[in-house]
Amino acid sequence: RTIRLEVARYRPGEDAEPVFEGYDVPLMSDWAVLDGLNYIKDQLDGSLSYRWSCRMGVCGSCGMTVNGEPRLTCGTFLTEYGDGPVRIEPLKGFPVIRDLVVDIDDFLAKLSSVRPWLIREGEELPLTTEYAQTPAQLEAYKQYSMCINCLLCYSACPVYVLDPDFLGPAAIALAQRYNLDSRDMGDRFDVLNLEDAVWGCTFVGECTRVCPKHVDPAEAIQRYKLTAALRSVLPWSKR
Ligand code: FES
Repeated sequence: RTIRLEVARYRPGEDAEPVFEGYDVPLMSDWAVLDGLNYIKDQLDGSLSYRWSCRMGVCGSCGMTVNGEPRLTCGTFLTEYGDGPVRIEPLKGFPVIRDLVVDIDDFLAKLSSVRPWLIREGEELPLTTEYAQTPAQLEAYKQYSMCINCLLCYSACPVYVLDPDFLGPAAIALAQRYNLDSRDMGDRFDVLNLEDAVWGCTFVGECTRVCPKHVDPAEAIQRYKLTAALRSVLPWSKR
């Protein structure tokens, strides 16, 4: 028994526009969409380009659009799609480099822009102090630290797809991962309190719905709106 995969093929600069090529791959009960792509690459067409690494939902590199939905292809089983076909495209909202590979430079720049490290003041290096945390203090930011940078939330976000300058769900959730850490002394107000940051979010919530790690970027964004509003009244307020 086989299932048909319709895979987007595109070489910018060489092809006028993307086309779909059909491949029949074995329909195995334990095969993920990524296994189907690997079968194509190994057995049918070695020129197919896509990213993957861990095959266990950890590295975040295998995100693609599967039948219109942003999904991790290593965690999406072929049997979810009955007799098929299964249409596989690159993640929406990102420039295509080749076939299913997208350019993530803009995403990486956005992650860096929120200063994703513990901001401390008045300390000399090297640090010699330990900063213990209670379980409750860890719990305050733990969910945001589970992000694997898979880009699914950006691909699902209607604001980012229309406005590439929007800071976006994962970067804002990452900022909150540090803002809510009891060891951090910053609030990243300068990069978050902007029209193209938290105030650009229309709270559709698609980012949260598609996250394979159950991070809740929509909650992070709404929560920071309250923080930003409070800070404009009480400038010394961090949270
Ligand atoms: Fe690493 Fe899918 S291959 S998350």
